[in-house]
Amino acid sequence: MALGRRGRRLKDKDLFETVEEVWDRQTLLAAYEVMRRLRLERFAGVVSAGKEARVYRAIGRDGKEYAVKIYLTVTAEFRKSIQKYLLGDPRFQNVDTRNTKKLFFVWARKEFRNLKRMYEAGVRVPRPYLVYQNIIVMEFIGRGGLRAPTLREAYRELEPEELEELAWEALEQYRRIYCCARLVHADFSEFNLLLYEGRLYVIDVAQAVSLEHPNAEEFLRHDIWNVHRFFTREVGIDLPSVEELVDWVRRCSEAPCKEVERREEAASPES
Ligand SMILES: Nc1ncnc2c1ncn2[C@@H]1O[C@H](COP(=O)(O)OP(=O)(O)OP(=O)(O)O)[C@@H](O)[C@H]1O
Ligand SMILES: [Mg+2]
Repeated sequence: MALGRRGRRLKDKDLFETVEEVWDRQTLLAAYEVMRRLRLERFAGVVSAGKEARVYRAIGRDGKEYAVKIYLTVTAEFRKSIQKYLLGDPRFQNVDTRNTKKLFFVWARKEFRNLKRMYEAGVRVPRPYLVYQNIIVMEFIGRGGLRAPTLREAYRELEPEELEELAWEALEQYRRIYCCARLVHADFSEFNLLLYEGRLYVIDVAQAVSLEHPNAEEFLRHDIWNVHRFFTREVGIDLPSVEELVDWVRRCSEAPCKEVERREEAASPES
């Protein structure tokens, strides 16, 4: 139980509109702590239920919307990701991989740190607010309860000229990830780009690694290959070769780090 805005006692089911059978007790307590710290009023539905994580929409007392990502399920892919994207990263080498609960905390922290590093470097990502245990809170990309569509969901409605611009916009964001945040995304695709108000937002950054990771080069190539595949084969526009695009991304002297347009935001919450 918790106290609502008018001092009324609220039951769990009032605060969490969707009764979440998948939350264990520790997650429920963590969710309360997150609500307290960010002054959230309630959770207002599931935005996405992925393999490992669920994304919820939450509403602040000021009416502002937040995206809350909670890691809940350990899958075989998750275990592989730990090996592939966590242990090779010099920032996370000394992690004890036996305790699965702790692994989620580390993974959530990794996602938050990557998000923050990208945000501060001027990459268009949701603004990061807070990480607590297996929970990450960030800016909600969308409005009025509706999340923005992924590029995958949206591209069929767009004109060829817009799509060509978006291809270069995706590459431009990638160049900022690489040159300004000094990271590679490692899961960059039309599924992890949201289209909102004509602009692309990069999401899902838990697996991103720093350039010192032994496979950073391979991940970079694969990411650019993915952009190339989507825009040339599925969308049907012309782009230079993958090799030329990789060289383009690496031309860091041309990267406009920090000059990014942000959405207007209300008062900035503590984190
Ligand atoms: N900040 C956000 N604002 C609005 N919607 C979001 C936000 N972050 C994530 N989403 C929604 O949740 C979905 C899943 O998010 P994300 O890709 O980070 O998680 P995931 O664990 O990789 O899930 P999946 O396995 O489905 O890829 C996104 O496709 C998007 O629809
Ligand atoms: Mg995803």
